[in-house]
Amino acid sequence: MDPLEYQLLRHTWFPIARIEDVTDRPVQANILGTKLVVYRVGDTMTVARAACPHRGVDLSMGEIRDGGLECPYHGWIFSAGTGVCTHVPSLPAGSAPVRTQLQTYRVAEAYGHVWSCLEEPYLPLPALADVGTVEWQLAFGEPNDLDCGMRQLTENFRDMGHFPFVHQGSMGPDVRRVVAPYQVRRDGWDLEWQLSTDLGGTALEGNKALGTRQTLTYHLSLPMFAWIRTTFPDGGRRLVAQFATPISEDGLRVREFWVVGIDRIVAEEHGVSIEQMWEYERIIFEEDFPIVENQEPREAPLDIRSQAHAPADKYSIAYRRTYVELLEAFAKEKGLEAR
Ligand code: FES
Ligand SMILES: [Fe+2]
Repeated sequence: MDPLEYQLLRHTWFPIARIEDVTDRPVQANILGTKLVVYRVGDTMTVARAACPHRGVDLSMGEIRDGGLECPYHGWIFSAGTGVCTHVPSLPAGSAPVRTQLQTYRVAEAYGHVWSCLEEPYLPLPALADVGTVEWQLAFGEPNDLDCGMRQLTENFRDMGHFPFVHQGSMGPDVRRVVAPYQVRRDGWDLEWQLSTDLGGTALEGNKALGTRQTLTYHLSLPMFAWIRTTFPDGGRRLVAQFATPISEDGLRVREFWVVGIDRIVAEEHGVSIEQMWEYERIIFEEDFPIVENQEPREAPLDIRSQAHAPADKYSIAYRRTYVELLEAFAKEKGLEAR
């Protein structure tokens, strides 16, 4: 990975775990090859480097005990929040404590996920559609690890020309092939555009209301925070979001996190439950995996001229150009060398 991009991503908020998975056991996580442990004691969520400061065992194999995280090797306990070592079982009574602590990182809880950032965040955590102002029923996907770059995965999620080829299984054989012209609007580091499609009545096993003509609002907050809000002719709304976290130092392996949401109209009038919608989206995501894991190069090239484009790829060109500008702005602020 380009060293400047690597630095930008160290200063980026990434999701690292679903909140629902961080229960009475710690969870393993990763950003850019830095192994992390996520653990919760009461209301305190902690993200720390996974290697125990004693002999380096992965603390995600440990247990929650006595208000902290207990290492599985020698039972040292590290408190929630600060990661300070509070107990060393091998110490004879009355001896001086061992002074050490875990390296902890920033933590945020949003959109069903625990987020972290290895360094001071360069950009704030983006807003997810109108979550928080409109009532959505949300559900959170099982994370998937994939052999591809963060931007490659993000572009796949933004791409519409592949629906009739990759998603015949889930969307049916009648998906419209032509992608109508569209305009990408830019606001700072956010891109948004609208497209309409028609699934020919074949979505979700022929659910009429969902398979009809629909308007999709695509939103992308750089570097990788992406969501699609689908609006049906009767006003019903569906939301799908995807966040891509690089989990290898070279950025060529990524963990995909996703969110699905439906509003009251879809739930009550289209007769689709959040569980059904979750399953539908899960299948759609899985159909994409063999594609995104077999692209060359594995990360989307920032040099626009190195690939061929059709008008349907307008978003991709806008994303790559804006990404280069983001790298330049970051380099300028940090006094780093631009690419
Ligand atoms: S390695 Fe963790 S307590 Fe020894
Ligand atoms: Fe897809």
